[in-house]
Amino acid sequence: MITAADIKIKKTTSSRISQVDFNDLEFGKIIADHMFLSDYKDGEWSNEHIEPFGDISFTPTILALHYGQMVFEGMKAFRMKDGNVSIFRIQKHYERFMRSLERMCMPVMSYRLFEEGLTNLIKLDQAWVPNSEGSALYIRPFAFASEERFGVKISSEYKYIIFSGPVGPYYDKPLRVKVEDHFIRAAHGGTGSAKCAGNYGASFYPTHLAKMQGFDQVLWTDGSPDLNIEESGTMNVMFVIDGVLVTPPLSDSILDGVTRDSFLTLAHELGIHTQQRTVSALELESALEKNILQEAFGTGTAAVASYIQSIDIKGKDYSVPVPGENGVMTRIKKMLTDIRSGAAPDKYNWNTIIHI
Ligand code: COI
Repeated sequence: MITAADIKIKKTTSSRISQVDFNDLEFGKIIADHMFLSDYKDGEWSNEHIEPFGDISFTPTILALHYGQMVFEGMKAFRMKDGNVSIFRIQKHYERFMRSLERMCMPVMSYRLFEEGLTNLIKLDQAWVPNSEGSALYIRPFAFASEERFGVKISSEYKYIIFSGPVGPYYDKPLRVKVEDHFIRAAHGGTGSAKCAGNYGASFYPTHLAKMQGFDQVLWTDGSPDLNIEESGTMNVMFVIDGVLVTPPLSDSILDGVTRDSFLTLAHELGIHTQQRTVSALELESALEKNILQEAFGTGTAAVASYIQSIDIKGKDYSVPVPGENGVMTRIKKMLTDIRSGAAPDKYNWNTIIHI
């Protein structure tokens, strides 16, 4: 069983942190000093180590580049009020990562490897965890097929890497979305519930077209004539309809969002009635016409939660109220932020605390 002592650590001799403007944290651009790596070979994960973040080399034949065996996670660490650092819901991210690996026919790893890799890396790079409102250290664990051959096959070798980078708020304004009625993100029996790279690559073209039409994102549907809503861009989606928080039920075409789950748990605590059920574009249209669609928002690790200000359904643009401070989304988001920063008790044991 892996322990912290098994992880060989080579520290950087020239930290890049002094070059970072922590007031300007564009998502995905700034990378912290170190990365964690492990290799899968001969049926086991080994060679766990941390080294300065930098290039790795491989030949153009590695299988991930050709057949897409590549899955990832998105997680966050937060600066707490007392200066310590909390990593959010390691167990839940681990479980999803293992499901993604299994779906892509890739080898799972022990919880210990996942947790030790994360905590040791974040301990080393703790100075990179920002403390301004809405900011966090985004953590990207990922694994890919590294066997060198181009024959179509399940890889027998893999690399697992974790790196991180400080990020600010993902969206700075409420979103304009359209119900996508031509392209779909995922189908039953497909890989929609796995966090595999291909799901994101395949979403780029429809999203690009929607952006050219002036939208920020698309609302994905299940492709049925009813246009049942599934997700919003790279986020899960939630609606407040007549006082009830409604979100599509999990299935093999919807990602089991950690923020989605946290929102449902906290809504329950706040006494907000929730329903995980099918919501069609037709129902949304009727709720918008009756003025009972009170809120619409996306949830995800990167964005946390982001209001939707308008929804286009079959070419007709509907405005959605953006309720502000007393809105369901705002109240739950604040509760979540308070738990992560230590301002509210961590009743659900979501935080793994790195003591600084
Ligand atoms: C996240 O919300 O963390 C995601 O993984 C979505 C995107 C940034 C890839």
